[in-house]
Amino acid sequence: MTDRLRLAIAGLGTVGCGVVRILQRHAEMLAQRAGRPIEIVAVSARNRDKDRGIRLNAYDWEDDPVALARREDVDLFIELIGGTDGPARAATEAAIAAGKDVVTANKALLALHGHELALAAETRGRVIRFEAAVAGGIPVIKALTEGLAGNEITRVMGVMNGTCNYILTRMQDSGRSYDDVFAEARDLGYLEADPTLDVGGIDAGHKLALLAAIAFGTRVDFAGVRLEGIERVSIEDIRQAADMGFRIKLLGVAQMTGRGLEQRMSPCLVPAASPLGQLENAANMVVLEGDSVGQIVLRGAGAGEGPTASAVLSDVIDIARGTRLSTFGQPAASLRQAGPAAAAAPAPYYLRLKLHDRPGALARIATVLGEAGISIDRMRQYGHEAPAAPVLIVTHKTSRDALDAAIEAMPATGVLAEAPVAIRIEQV
Ligand code: HSE
Repeated sequence: MTDRLRLAIAGLGTVGCGVVRILQRHAEMLAQRAGRPIEIVAVSARNRDKDRGIRLNAYDWEDDPVALARREDVDLFIELIGGTDGPARAATEAAIAAGKDVVTANKALLALHGHELALAAETRGRVIRFEAAVAGGIPVIKALTEGLAGNEITRVMGVMNGTCNYILTRMQDSGRSYDDVFAEARDLGYLEADPTLDVGGIDAGHKLALLAAIAFGTRVDFAGVRLEGIERVSIEDIRQAADMGFRIKLLGVAQMTGRGLEQRMSPCLVPAASPLGQLENAANMVVLEGDSVGQIVLRGAGAGEGPTASAVLSDVIDIARGTRLSTFGQPAASLRQAGPAAAAAPAPYYLRLKLHDRPGALARIATVLGEAGISIDRMRQYGHEAPAAPVLIVTHKTSRDALDAAIEAMPATGVLAEAPVAIRIEQV
């Protein structure tokens, strides 16, 4: 065996404790796989006295994660503090400046500062790895940077926030409202301290931006992600979408188009029978498409102690083995600055309307759509109690601009009983 790899772990929450447990439980197996022993030297967390149910007395304690990051007896700094700035950023920068490699689970930090951190690390011959930052235990970074390295990636899609998927599938199964199921998810401890990170699509948007950078060789650009959360998804839409053969998912899509890099994180309809449509509860799924390989579907736990710690260990073992990949799969200095696509690629849309039930109402709506150049694929009107008739329309492919123009023109028809709801149908 060669020299041991000496670790420092900053942050002893769920994931940090999970990493310590795996390192203690499987020390011998990990050493065999890595070709050298992997040992924790020192740890840091906010509260030293908290009982975490793990043995920590063999490790040095540092109150300050920046001091931990700078220790001379450390080779690899593991950042599990979280947060875009503050101690996570300061300690990561300190670790790089001190010549350490870094493993992090921090999607927010990398989505906002990943390019600068990667440049700084690579300039010093250091690596930053972040398998645990995207889709928890699913080895998606490895799949993109290694398994699919020979492909031009054409599209990346994913359900990458388990909490949102839990809320949407529970609404579907139980017929309960968003507010009800949100409260249930909160009681189960699924929500981040700031729930907007989950239900506003921000957490999943961070993950999408990281995947897009690797997939398309571009600088990570979270500001370029068009974000829409699930807060306005109604139980009516979940029911009606199901009736038309769809499920509603908070879906991320990234693709390079002639008009720039398209990155969207928004509620979308997907076919109920598709792998994405069948994804239940808090699971995550990432769909990768390459020019040679076709479509790859990866499914698994996107959060939790075991799955996220498993991903951290994958990076740690790679570094112990001497694998030294660029942070985003190619040197940071070679990543292009892609402009965000001005508009999303055309798609079919689901349109839910409530119309005053009188002669010619539907014809007027059909005329507005026709005048905007939108063709109707399917339409259904439901039995109802007067005075308003629920109508569902699935359009053929159209641009969002044309659809918005049609929706804007609809009130002037005088037949709308409620504002229309439009949701993109993603062809998966
Ligand atoms: N809150 C996230 C989720 C996990 O629900 O998937 C951390 O990114």
